[in-house]
Amino acid sequence: MLSRLSAATIAPAAEYLALARHTLKRLLEAPALLDRICIERKPGAYTRNLIYGDDRITVYAIVWAAGSQTSIHDHHCSCCFGVLSGAIRETWYETVDANHAVPTKNFVRETGHIAGMLPSGPNLHKMTNDAADEAISIHIYGYASETRPSSIDCEYLLSDQRNA
Ligand SMILES: [Fe+2]
Repeated sequence: MLSRLSAATIAPAAEYLALARHTLKRLLEAPALLDRICIERKPGAYTRNLIYGDDRITVYAIVWAAGSQTSIHDHHCSCCFGVLSGAIRETWYETVDANHAVPTKNFVRETGHIAGMLPSGPNLHKMTNDAADEAISIHIYGYASETRPSSIDCEYLLSDQRNA
């Protein structure tokens, strides 16, 4: 299933995103792939657990401990995710300069939610688990994990809007 998706990365973007969403739906319905990987947990932090990787896509199960959060970041590649368990708050941002961003929208991504973003944007966001319980999401990124440390392109600081 994931190798078929990988082959589709050369398809038009809309076609790839549709297949990525379909793949995530199937993974959320029957997450047997997780049985074969070692899940790492860190109190207060999130962990990336590699499910699949080749020269085109990298798939992680991300375990979000209560209180964990990412930086404000964007991506150099496509980023599709589905929430397997729990809920994750996703905040969207807009840049105000090369290093700073302001929040524009907040969403709570509940179990079963599936999203797909392209590197052409909009894809500037921050993920937070501010619930009391752990959450797990499956992420499919359009890059080879052996060539780059992560899917993150740039990180931003929260702007002091009085100076924006
Ligand atoms: Fe992200």
